[in-house]
Amino acid sequence: MKLDSTVSAVVTGGASGLGAATARALAAKGVKVAIFDLQEEKGTALASELGGVFCECNVTDDASVDAAFAKSREAIGQERILVNCAGTGNAIKTASRSKEDGSIKHFPLDAFNWIIQINLVGTFRCIAKSAAGMLTLDPMEDGERGAIVNTASVAAEDGQIGQAAYSASKGGVVGMTLPIARDLGNENIRVNTILPGIFDTPLLAGAPQPVRDALGASVLNPKRLGIPDEYANLAMCMIENGYFNGEDVRLDGGIRMAMPKPESWRLDAASYPVAIELQTRFQDMDINGHLNNVAFAALFESGRVLLNRQVRPLEKRAANERTMVAAVEINYLAEGNLPDPVKIATGIGRLGTSSWTIVQAMFQNGRPIATCDTVVVCRTDGQAKPLRAEMVAELEANLVKPV
Ligand SMILES: NC(=O)c1ccc[n+]([C@@H]2O[C@H](COP(=O)([O-])OP(=O)(O)OC[C@H]3O[C@@H](n4cnc5c(N)ncnc54)[C@H](O)[C@@H]3O)[C@@H](O)[C@H]2O)c1
Repeated sequence: MKLDSTVSAVVTGGASGLGAATARALAAKGVKVAIFDLQEEKGTALASELGGVFCECNVTDDASVDAAFAKSREAIGQERILVNCAGTGNAIKTASRSKEDGSIKHFPLDAFNWIIQINLVGTFRCIAKSAAGMLTLDPMEDGERGAIVNTASVAAEDGQIGQAAYSASKGGVVGMTLPIARDLGNENIRVNTILPGIFDTPLLAGAPQPVRDALGASVLNPKRLGIPDEYANLAMCMIENGYFNGEDVRLDGGIRMAMPKPESWRLDAASYPVAIELQTRFQDMDINGHLNNVAFAALFESGRVLLNRQVRPLEKRAANERTMVAAVEINYLAEGNLPDPVKIATGIGRLGTSSWTIVQAMFQNGRPIATCDTVVVCRTDGQAKPLRAEMVAELEANLVKPV
């Protein structure tokens, strides 16, 4: 679609983050932009900066959406472009046990429905009403009548703990993209959906810096959060490239959020029975001046040795008993820097019949930078046999206590 001042666009959630960046990119091409949002102050300021119009709108409310379309069409004409960015999330487990008193609760259904109403039904409501309006327009010179871009999330494919509602809503947006593109194909209206990874928007601004750093470090390449302009760039491509249709595209720096992020207690030193502070050394540095990966492993090893001394003093070891490390898994959360010391917190995470798992976390200047899980197996006379009662008691005395 050729973009210029003869074209109008509606951007929902346009007052902030990804929607605001897209509104700016459209306006930079001369497109007349209407911002649909709940946030009046921010939306009005941006609309006046872009020479567009702000329409206060709640995408969950039919009358509110009708009024917003009426206002925008009156001000800038029938839109040929709709970009759906209005959305939000929550994080609640499907069913869970209270750490304080053990009581059990489940995801409140009204909280589940609220997310579905905004992210999924709200998106469809705006698509349906906008598409009906686009059908009143004649096609442009190139035959195009309209273009729609929706925002899902990588959580549609790799949802995390607590994201049942968010993932369901975004999965719904992904699922409806092709059928809507088919519904509107004969009318020359294209429909595409972006699945953003982790973007640096006000949605994330409330997260503490260590969490933001850890999220950035979890991206495959580049190791940082996405920039809203990068989202806008793909939205513009979906709008301008007339062959782009019926697609759901991840924009995520290659992140695959298959591993749930550590539960909060894992990143709290108070959960572990044993802790030691260790000095980082010049030889622990990689060529970028950070703590190298092998040094992480060695530091965790020192933390395990300390725990072993406490759990299994050498003099208590039976002559026919041998323990060995069977597996070590380190998850890197953030860069370690030199020459600051690190604190290694260690405890027993799980006790099996003839093995146990040592769980650890590494902190630097109070910030969690890695976790480590080590499986230790015990062989008696060369065979896996149930752990002696005395050993079980020692291990149990050093179990982690999640806080
Ligand atoms: N930031 C990310 O990392 C990320 C990742 C994946 C998906 N997303 C999705 O991208 C979209 C934009 O998110 P963002 O990061 O720019 O967040 P944001 O909070 O900066 O912007 C969202 C905007 O939507 C508006 N909004 C919320 N509920 C609304 C409603 N009922 N009616 C009208 N407007 C409403 C908010 O007022 C806000 O201005 C969302 O759908 C979000 O789920 C964001």
